[in-house]
Amino acid sequence: MTGPQTDFPAARASTPRLLEVDDLYVEFHTRDGIAKVINGVSYHLDPGETLAVLGESGSGKSVTAQTIMGILDIPPGKVTGGRILYQDRDLLKMSKEERRQIRGQEIAMIFQDALSALNPVFTVGNQISETLRKRKGLSKSDATRRAVELMDLVKIPGARARIKDYPHQFSGGMRQRVMIAMALALDPKVLIADEPTTALDVTVQAQIMDLLADLRRDLNMGMILITHDLGVVADVADRIAVMYAGRIVEHADVHALYKKPAHPYTEGLLDSIPRLDSKGAELATIKGLPPNLMKPPTGCAFNPRCKYAKDICVTDVPPLLQLGDGRTSACHFAKELLDGRL
Ligand SMILES: Nc1ncnc2c1ncn2[C@@H]1O[C@H](COP(=O)(O)OP(=O)(O)O)[C@@H](O)[C@H]1O
Ligand code: SF4
Ligand SMILES: [Mg+2]
Repeated sequence: MTGPQTDFPAARASTPRLLEVDDLYVEFHTRDGIAKVINGVSYHLDPGETLAVLGESGSGKSVTAQTIMGILDIPPGKVTGGRILYQDRDLLKMSKEERRQIRGQEIAMIFQDALSALNPVFTVGNQISETLRKRKGLSKSDATRRAVELMDLVKIPGARARIKDYPHQFSGGMRQRVMIAMALALDPKVLIADEPTTALDVTVQAQIMDLLADLRRDLNMGMILITHDLGVVADVADRIAVMYAGRIVEHADVHALYKKPAHPYTEGLLDSIPRLDSKGAELATIKGLPPNLMKPPTGCAFNPRCKYAKDICVTDVPPLLQLGDGRTSACHFAKELLDGRL
């Protein structure tokens, strides 16, 4: 039992983890001071599973992903601690060239804004096949054939004809499918989707989520699904890591977390999901604002907003409590909350 604190017995294997972020620290050095934005993040991913990383804007979800991808802005960013193991090799210790090889080929990423990520002056077919020609050395005709296959895979209707279209001729949802096709071009083992549906309307969101779930199953990829919306992950994710102020404050199996949160912040997020049975009822939101990371609160970073806060919450940083079945919570009163005694 030497695995990280976030292990699940069922997921433990003798082969190396697909991806493991281990006690990562990142800060930004700006004119106004140093912002400590990632403060000891650990999470892991195995093949074929989806980890949802959830948290309000500014909690450090994207910075963690950018550090995994090797696209963090350095400076002003700086990794000050931790490891990122991809199949047991530390990405943070690799040369630029080694990381470039891994980027796209082993670990790929899709972003929220599909329109700005696509080049408006090239056809989508051109953009997909360019990657295949450059990175896989395919001939022009082979790359075009593969680009059509990839567009079929992401269920773009009439792929063969649409390959000659430009990005502006696609709807928002279809553009996101093109981005997913590009991310899949080099057969990555890990797909990081950073708020992939945030810019889309609700119906299209659901279709993209369905597609991602199908792809994960069919291709046996590990997927990190970053979102601020707990509502969209229930059907797709296996586990959830909840982030607050650059820490994972709760990590749990998705069903366990929905049934009963073990951290007051998760409880607040759950209470702010619109439910079908509460039409018209006012939605609870978490009062207050996320902390200023240049001057975070003492003790538990959530204490100014927490309705359960007590003296110890202002003086002591809560340790990561192990609650069984791989569940963890960084709250002094996690056990009481779970037992309904808080
Ligand atoms: N290039 C940057 N320079 C300075 N601060 C940054 C930069 N990128 C992100 N940050 C800060 O890091 C924190 C975490 O950001 P981010 O990971 O993007 O949040 P999330 O994705 O959870 O919304 C935020 O406070 C943000 O302002
Ligand atoms: S440690 Fe205290 S302030 Fe932080 S979440 Fe738990 S009860 Fe709230
Ligand atoms: Mg983000």
